[in-house]
Amino acid sequence: MDRIRISGGRKLSGTIPISGAKNAALPLMIASLLTDQTLILENVPALADVRQLRRILGNHGVDVMYAGKRPGETPHDGQTLHISAAQIVDTTAPYEMVSKMRASFWVIAPLLARMGEARVSMPGGCSIGTRPVDLLIMAMERLGAEIEIESGYVIARAKNGLKGGEIVFPKVTVGGTHTALMAATLAQGTTVIENAAREPEIGDVADCLNKMGARITGASTSRIVIEGVAKLSGARHSVLPDRIETGTYAMAVAMTGGDVLLEGARPELLQSALDLLQQAGVEITTTNHGIRVARNGAGLEPVAVTTAPFPGFPTDLQAQLMALMTRANGTSRITETIFENRFMHVQELARLGARIHLDGETATIEGVPRLKGAQVMATDLRASVSLVIAALAAEGETIVNRVYHLDRGFERLESKLANCGAAIERLSA
Ligand code: EPZ
Repeated sequence: MDRIRISGGRKLSGTIPISGAKNAALPLMIASLLTDQTLILENVPALADVRQLRRILGNHGVDVMYAGKRPGETPHDGQTLHISAAQIVDTTAPYEMVSKMRASFWVIAPLLARMGEARVSMPGGCSIGTRPVDLLIMAMERLGAEIEIESGYVIARAKNGLKGGEIVFPKVTVGGTHTALMAATLAQGTTVIENAAREPEIGDVADCLNKMGARITGASTSRIVIEGVAKLSGARHSVLPDRIETGTYAMAVAMTGGDVLLEGARPELLQSALDLLQQAGVEITTTNHGIRVARNGAGLEPVAVTTAPFPGFPTDLQAQLMALMTRANGTSRITETIFENRFMHVQELARLGARIHLDGETATIEGVPRLKGAQVMATDLRASVSLVIAALAAEGETIVNRVYHLDRGFERLESKLANCGAAIERLSA
């Protein structure tokens, strides 16, 4: 298994190009199942999860073609995918595929809406929590689907098509909102989604669906209204920039000190995180090329934050912020309210010398004058990058093991950081 070696202590300076958002690219690819015409997606990040989803869509009979290089294209430009679900040949998503990439469970919505049936493996839990899908099932039942669970599979049927209805989510769920949104586009009549997730990726998917002929209003607010249509057509859509990647690299620069332009980043996608970094003493400047992040000489101030659905501080940046706060001048507090087990990085950060105390869903981080390199192990996508952030400022050498987690969500991470002066390299096993 690949590992990453980092020698800490170097400042970062230069430019980091921000890739297309993983958490928009995945549902956008799944939305291709809603039409028999070709959906063209631009700025798709080259990630393991995208490759895995391509395999899953292929199992349903979907052709995914990567466009060739274009004049003037740089390695920073995302990929362009031509996705065609002209004929869906299999409405089953098998366990061995879904268990590798949980969001693939969301194919249940377009399969049900277009084919009237779907048989999708329950995704199972993961290291950050039980990750149930009860609210996704509730949403489809509210649209008239008959659901049964058999041998670990969710079997959904709507022989006479889905009917518009009212879906009220008792808690904010991104996957639930994506599922309800996609299913409702082809339902007969009007659907209203209350307490919908407001993450920018929902708005990006809704924009694309509307280009395909859907009739969605209110996406990115907590109340979304969808007028069902009979068919959807192809479209061309560019994936919005990744706010979690943006926040991650902003925290890396804050950790090492230096001055970096996050090219293509859009501040309104992560304003809560940027505000928090400014509170911590980091210089954040919006330019027309992206977001400039700098810290030169000033120390880091401690912060107190609770993760929350958008526009609150995102749970997907919690581990990265914790790594940063290990070097703050004082005691910070981070409360995780979205997932029940998202502190797996704490013990690994402690191996680097961090002082973190856990009490239920709150972590108390006591800033220390220095971190020291060590062997550490990644446990999930965002935890793994928090170890990279800590290693960038640790004295000596750190080896991060199990970096396949990183490859799921961060495109060319080593080269983006090395291009800004980090001493980081991948050690292929
Ligand atoms: C999406 O996961 C993201 N994944 C996650 O990012 C992100 O952390 C999460 O939203 C929260 O923002 C993708 O977009 C591919 P949820 P999702 O449904 O949709 C509970 C990453 O690192 N819940 O919003 O699975 C659930 O257990 C990943 O890129 C139910 O109880 O998250 C959690 O406590 C990690 N029943 C809360 O809701 C359900 O049916 C929020 O989960 C569904 C969810």
